[in-house]
Amino acid sequence: MSTVAAPNDLNAYWMPFTANRSFKRAPRMLSKAKDMHYWTPEGRKLLDGAAGLWCVNAGHSRDPIVKAIQDQAAEMDFSPPFQFGNPKAFQLATRVAAMAPGDLDHVFFANSGSEAVDTALKMAIGYFHMQGQGQRQRLIGRARGYHGVGFGGISVGGISPNRKIYGAMLAGVDHLPATYNRAEQAFARGEPDWGAHLADDLENIVALHDASNIAAVIVEPMAGSTGVIAAPKGYLQKLRAICDKYGILLIFDEVITGFGRLGYAFAAERYGVVPDMICFAKGITSGTVPMGGVVVRKCIYDAFMKGPDHAVEMFHGYTYSAHPLACAAGLATLDVYEKEGLFERARKIEPIWADAVHSLKGLPNVADIRTIGIVGAIDLAPNNVGPGKRGFEAMDEAYHKQDLLFRIAGDTIVLSPPLIISEAQIDEVVEKTAKVIKALG
Ligand SMILES: Cc1ncc(COP(=O)(O)O)c(C=O)c1O
Repeated sequence: MSTVAAPNDLNAYWMPFTANRSFKRAPRMLSKAKDMHYWTPEGRKLLDGAAGLWCVNAGHSRDPIVKAIQDQAAEMDFSPPFQFGNPKAFQLATRVAAMAPGDLDHVFFANSGSEAVDTALKMAIGYFHMQGQGQRQRLIGRARGYHGVGFGGISVGGISPNRKIYGAMLAGVDHLPATYNRAEQAFARGEPDWGAHLADDLENIVALHDASNIAAVIVEPMAGSTGVIAAPKGYLQKLRAICDKYGILLIFDEVITGFGRLGYAFAAERYGVVPDMICFAKGITSGTVPMGGVVVRKCIYDAFMKGPDHAVEMFHGYTYSAHPLACAAGLATLDVYEKEGLFERARKIEPIWADAVHSLKGLPNVADIRTIGIVGAIDLAPNNVGPGKRGFEAMDEAYHKQDLLFRIAGDTIVLSPPLIISEAQIDEVVEKTAKVIKALG
């Protein structure tokens, strides 16, 4: 089995969201992948407990997706998305729109979750401008929310290290409180019972600013990046009701929760709540080619379709919006999801997954465990060096000693394997994670 040799100079590459200096002293390289596994350059096989980075929902390097990308690269490498169209972009938009709930039936393509979020925020403000309500500009995010790293995303996001050295960011942003409370929710399976009332804080923000100044609320149905915080039962319904009461747009950031992670095409379906916009990325191409986007309600699209026939309606877009390789990968990925029934499968195995992950309760330093869909989080108590060190050591131990890849969020181990995971592999992920936790002492 061929793997790409490790480079001998690691200096030039400034790695994203990485402890660069420690990585370069003891690298964690990955150079090949197939189905549920990665391989290191030396040929060591690792079980993927993270679907790469929440994105490889169909499993790695799947033949039909690989072939679609190869064929597309040979047929047409690139086509300009401004004023010209690639047939596959229209096909993919139609399929994504059909998967979205309600009248969310128009799709704008970007290349990442961060771009999807910035697009949605601009659309919200632009929508009200087009309606003659240009004063509706305020945006509301949530503490512990992650919406990528654009200036829009970090402004509505609620993660201090992602914000604190970047200055003023966007003006006019408020935050709802985070919905996690260990005392009330510890060891929850699925949506916690406690916390729906936290949506009522939106009423306080409206009282402070007046709804006539507020454009949109953006939340993740399940906050992934800050350690897996599922919406409490009834919370999203409450947010929807308050947004409706005041004419505020509701945006779901489904960059992680979209494409099967919670057992449905979009989490909106799981919760029976129809937002006004859905941001997506990651699973749309199962991570193979960068792609993101926003699905919007008909009224939002219609609001922009004004002015002279020859004129651009929205001054926004990216050179690589609807890139032909991403569109081909997206169509092939949706075929795999459909043919293999992967979303239904995720629903079916959710209780098995939850039992397995919750079996880690009682191991040393395990302070809380949360599961929802095919996602699991294990909070470890910080060690005496301070927050983040035990989590980092867990990731390192998993890669080097247990042949397992998972994500960490501070001292939380986050598991989110590809949706093709077998029941035996669920046991393997959990057994290896248990060994990691025990090894940390
Ligand atoms: C909810 C959410 N929004 C946005 C993003 C940003 O996506 P990207 O890294 O593709 O820009 C992420 C990434 O994990 C995410 O989880």
